[in-house]
Amino acid sequence: MLRVMDPSRLRARASGRERCPCCPDGLAEDARARCAGLLTAALLFGPLLLMIWLQRRRDVDGTRGPGRRSSVPAAEPNALSGRGSGGCSAADPVAGITSGVKIVLTGDGAEAARLVADEILAALRAKPNLVLGLPTGSTPIGVYEHLRAAYAAGEADFSRVHTFNLDEYLDLPAEHPQSYRFFMQEHLFSGVNVPAENIHFPPSEGDDLVRRCAEYEETIERVGGIDIMLLGMGRNGHIGFNEPTSSLASRTRVKTLTRRTLDDNARFYAEGEEQPVLATTMGIGTILDARKILLQAIGAKKARAVQAAVEGPVSSFFPASALQLHPDVTCYFDPEAAELLRMKDYYRSTRAHELRLKAEGRLAARS
Ligand code: GLP
Repeated sequence: MLRVMDPSRLRARASGRERCPCCPDGLAEDARARCAGLLTAALLFGPLLLMIWLQRRRDVDGTRGPGRRSSVPAAEPNALSGRGSGGCSAADPVAGITSGVKIVLTGDGAEAARLVADEILAALRAKPNLVLGLPTGSTPIGVYEHLRAAYAAGEADFSRVHTFNLDEYLDLPAEHPQSYRFFMQEHLFSGVNVPAENIHFPPSEGDDLVRRCAEYEETIERVGGIDIMLLGMGRNGHIGFNEPTSSLASRTRVKTLTRRTLDDNARFYAEGEEQPVLATTMGIGTILDARKILLQAIGAKKARAVQAAVEGPVSSFFPASALQLHPDVTCYFDPEAAELLRMKDYYRSTRAHELRLKAEGRLAARS
């Protein structure tokens, strides 16, 4: 059949200026060539890019594609629930074998507290003169309750233990209800038998603070260094009172608290009551010197901090991220605190592997 062509189109074609049907602004000859090139590139590289993206997602999520088999065991939902099943003590060779930073996703905050207390009690049995680094805040209260209960039941003896608190407000007397000495007395020391002379706090009153902070470090050294450092974490990532931008090598010193930390802690002070803005704190370097670190985070308000501490870059702007530099850290997170973690499946399977190897006795040190 004879096809009649629009004369204007014929003229355009003759002059090489025909419009491209799929790109109205383009000219036919070169535009068609361009379109064909783009189409070919999309067909060739599109599926490739899609495959790379899917693979990266699987790596990040720790998930596997449907139908693929793996030797990774599914985490037992109740694998962590038996008393004593969860942890490894300072004397336990499991520590640090499966990974430097171990993540334990607990069923709730109470389980986290029990597992952390079990770790400390197991370490105490193995080393009666255990040296503990201790935090304040709402997070460790459950752990302290377990330690007091163990002592009351005659299952733990703290008579040779040394404790070093992480931090203390400057110029707040020990009898002030917001002082950390008051807190520790109320939540732990009144219920266990740590001798008073073995309880240590960084200097928080008087003069010569630089020298006395250095002496605090020397006292830690003199008793053999901290075996277990228990930690909570502020929403801005502070550990102790190491606020953002603290040197990762810092030692015990005076720090100025950030507005955010002051706001977070304002709830403990009465309306109009003066809130300390200075504190002495172990440094990040002091914390990293401990042989073993146990970090706890409970509740949704810690979810961003948890994600940044564990999966973010190491940065003095987020002090808890420095824990990634330590070879033996175990983190206990309840479901709300763990909400934003990207590799939850991986952490669960890692934990299941560790518990299996431990149950099989394959991680015990040969004597
Ligand atoms: C204070 C303490 C920190 C503690 C933090 C978190 O700032 N200096 O050592 O980790 O509070 O408190 P909470 O456990 O109440 O969230």
